Amino acid sequence: MLRTHTCGELTERQIGQRATLCGWVDSRRDHGNVIFIDLRDRWGKTQLVFNPEGNRELHKAAEKLRLEYVVRIQGRVEKRPQGTENPKITTGEIEIRCSELEILNPSETPPFELMDDSNISEELRLKYRYLDLRRPSMFRRLYDRHKMTKIARDYFDGNGFIEVETPMLTRSTPEGARDFLVPSRLELGSFYALPQSPQLFKQILMVAGFDRYFQLARCLRDEDLRADRQPEHTQIDVEMSFVSEDDIISVIEGFLVRMVESVRGIKLKTPLKRLTYDEAMSRFGSDKPDLRFELELVDVTSILSATEFNVFQEVIKGKGVIKGLKIGERNFSRSDFDQLTALVQGFGAKGLAWFKVEAGGLESPVAKFLTQVQQESLKKAFQAKTGDTIFLVADQWLNASTALGVLRNHLAIQFGLNQLEELALAWIVDFPLFQWNEEEKRVDAVHHPFTAPQEADLKFLETEPLRVRARAYDIILNGTEIGGGSIRIHQEEVQKRVFKILGISDKEAEEKFGFLLRALRFGAPPHGGIAIGLDRLCAIMGGVDSIREVIAFPKTQKGVCPMTEAPSKVDPKQLKELGLQVKGR
Ligand code: AMO
Ligand code: AMP
Repeated sequence: MLRTHTCGELTERQIGQRATLCGWVDSRRDHGNVIFIDLRDRWGKTQLVFNPEGNRELHKAAEKLRLEYVVRIQGRVEKRPQGTENPKITTGEIEIRCSELEILNPSETPPFELMDDSNISEELRLKYRYLDLRRPSMFRRLYDRHKMTKIARDYFDGNGFIEVETPMLTRSTPEGARDFLVPSRLELGSFYALPQSPQLFKQILMVAGFDRYFQLARCLRDEDLRADRQPEHTQIDVEMSFVSEDDIISVIEGFLVRMVESVRGIKLKTPLKRLTYDEAMSRFGSDKPDLRFELELVDVTSILSATEFNVFQEVIKGKGVIKGLKIGERNFSRSDFDQLTALVQGFGAKGLAWFKVEAGGLESPVAKFLTQVQQESLKKAFQAKTGDTIFLVADQWLNASTALGVLRNHLAIQFGLNQLEELALAWIVDFPLFQWNEEEKRVDAVHHPFTAPQEADLKFLETEPLRVRARAYDIILNGTEIGGGSIRIHQEEVQKRVFKILGISDKEAEEKFGFLLRALRFGAPPHGGIAIGLDRLCAIMGGVDSIREVIAFPKTQKGVCPMTEAPSKVDPKQLKELGLQVKGR
């Protein structure tokens, strides 16, 4: 080793000893005669002292040091003079009086300061990610991520799961996103798809009798990116045989309990709360509600059934609903109301009615259409008092609920209702199996096409597909879906019926998923599983807004890596080998 200790190691116990350290110049204070350097490595910081009295040459050399130079020093560990100790760091009692200095490598001036609270553009941070990752906060996040993957591996191993790697070069799998394709050189015109998840392989491992599988699996999806979406993400992917929903849920709860306790020191109470999809949508307007705050939606359709307000009448006639939420004692201006209206309209609501609760009654452009009794009933339904504001949306149930769910989250962020340290975990169950795709006028799978329908609803499969509930479950944390899974279809006949409803013909099914259907014919056991989004889990546990903060080398919103400048043009020779020519869109 080039060093005897790390920069986070020396304490009072080593006073008087000689030490050799290596690291980066984190800060430099030149007091004319004495130069102080904080030397930094992954483990911490140690204060170095260069004193001209002892050694003029050495002091001269130290004058040349600049930020981020990487150096090796030798010296004696000494107690810091009284009053100059730093109790915040482990090495805060000591300093090193240096007798030798070797510059291992100079550094250009960094394009940004590495101070932890620096406010730098993300583009620049990602371009110089190696500097960004030198920041202790970044290292800590990736270290926590390492700890979480280790906990996952130990936990699943301890419970009889075996980690199996599945191919990266494979066929298209239907998780609902666009595939990344890889052209085949050996078979011109054919393409591999990068896996959107190991879904079909893990099911096939169940057919193979592996019984309990897990994998820290890289998944690749060509989607539009957001703060919680990357083109490649990692799942803690799990599959089990001969199980029901409850078995999978309890295995995952066991993992979450251990993980939250190790990373946050919080003891989770299990079983975790479970909400049905209908309940989550009705009460919170989302299938991944943030349960750290209340702001529940209330259905007031019956109260307003006899209203003379045209807009509401029409909606009720069309079997729609009037729902709303109340927020206490906040002041909204006209322009605030306009902005909130635009917000819900962006999510498909036709409008937003608002009511300020005042001592005399309700103040609102719509109030004149409501009778005194209706106004009083509204106040009662929301348990509203003077100073509160009520918002209503009239629309079909799903639209009204969704729009209010967006409003609920928006108000919570605006008023800081979700700033708490708390971790609100819950399961969402009883999802519908299918949803209506208005654009393409057909049904889509809510999860994926291999999700089993609930036994009791099988009879509606062909006649009323939208009524069929799935044996699927999501796990949510603070308003984010951190995982999802299901009991799978293990019988070829049911799988074919579901494909048919999704508009996948027998021929197409055979072409795309023939290998799965064939496997189902060879004694496929009942099975099910789940995948937890590791990046999202790490981000929330680490208290950061974007999963890019917990990924060493992420892509920007535009799918670009500013450091490597991927994606990039390739050599024409490479294209020729692949029989490809770029024509543009
Ligand atoms: P699903 O598509 O719901 O299920 O993905 C599981 C979890 O992975 C996370 N996730 C993502 N994280 C970051 N960036 C993305 N682009 C991204 N996409 C998904 C989410 C999500 O809950 N094969 C099924 C699982 C199963 O049925 O067992 C699957 O992939 O947290
Ligand atoms: P309008 O008659 O469209 O000008 O709407 C009168 C008021 O009713 C405005 O405050 C609208 O925002 C509100 N409004 C219109 N449509 C809806 C709706 N579907 N749900 C709730 N409020 C609505």
